[in-house]
Amino acid sequence: MKNKRFFITLLSAVLIVTSLTSCGKSFRDAAKQKGFRAGMSVGAGIFFDKSVSKIIKENSYVVVSENCMKWANLRPNKNFWNWNDIDQLVKYAQENNMDVKWHTLFWHRQNSPFVSSNWTREQALKMMDEHIETIMTRYKGKISEYDVVNEMFEEDGSFRKNVWYETIGPDYIEHALIKAHEVDPDTKLYLNEYNNECKGNRKADAMFNYVKELKEKGVPIDGVGMQMHLDTSYNYNENAIRANIQRYAEIGIEISFSELDVRIPMDAIEAHEVVQENIYLSLYKLASEEPNVTSVITWGYTDKKSWIPAEFPGKGNALMYDKDSKPKKVYKDVLEYLRK
Ligand code: XIL
Repeated sequence: MKNKRFFITLLSAVLIVTSLTSCGKSFRDAAKQKGFRAGMSVGAGIFFDKSVSKIIKENSYVVVSENCMKWANLRPNKNFWNWNDIDQLVKYAQENNMDVKWHTLFWHRQNSPFVSSNWTREQALKMMDEHIETIMTRYKGKISEYDVVNEMFEEDGSFRKNVWYETIGPDYIEHALIKAHEVDPDTKLYLNEYNNECKGNRKADAMFNYVKELKEKGVPIDGVGMQMHLDTSYNYNENAIRANIQRYAEIGIEISFSELDVRIPMDAIEAHEVVQENIYLSLYKLASEEPNVTSVITWGYTDKKSWIPAEFPGKGNALMYDKDSKPKKVYKDVLEYLRK
């Protein structure tokens, strides 16, 4: 009897302590408990500001640079590599127990003026190899995952005719993956894309078939990034996203929601806030429930600095922190879900 009472008291104590600790869990720890890394993109040097750093630390076990790793910023001309901002981010992440993701080795945007579609195949391959070798040797062991190629498909599912496609041909992606794996076999290699999240969408299906083919051929690839720059005015289809994630799981591919934000029309903010919240909640739920979703990274964290208003005029309020960098209702509700 005495033993039983002691056991019950002990059990209640354990339950109280467990629920108290999970109540107080930070966003990143609550996400970790659900089985994925939460994170965000960060602008150059923003973590030197203590209040910003506090927010990054609460929310991130993985960080990615918003622009510093892109060709135009990193290597604005042939003979100059701007490592400074990236080195600072890597140091900051290491000190704060965060992974660093590289975004991106190859893309059609934000290239340097010397990246040229007049290169021969050989010249382009040489530049590609040099880019991979220089970066991946320098940061060997320090970058957890690379977006090797970003946005390689058109909406109709054909390959985007970017400078690498035009100079090298469609095998440029394979070439980049193989070379990257050769230089750093321990890091993870991703292909990253937008509007590729729903099974049944032409681009999403083309990407899945292509990645499956790569796997079958033995080309090194670990994951697919679904950017998730979403808009409350478009249909959101949780089932189609889940089905897509699950077919990737079947071929051993992990998924990152890699650049999440959910924009709303600025002239109808209140009407769209509920839709926005449902989308955020659904995505964090999917990440919690589907084991091959390994990270959810928001594109920035505050509406104050979001890329959305410049790129999508009339749209905004896309993130979970408002213009004063205060967490919105949606943030609190997602956090509550993750803590359960
Ligand atoms: C955006 C940055 O946020 C902006 O600061 C920059 O001016 C343009 O690029 N998809 C991507 C990201 O893969 O690299 C883009 O980032 C947003 C869309």
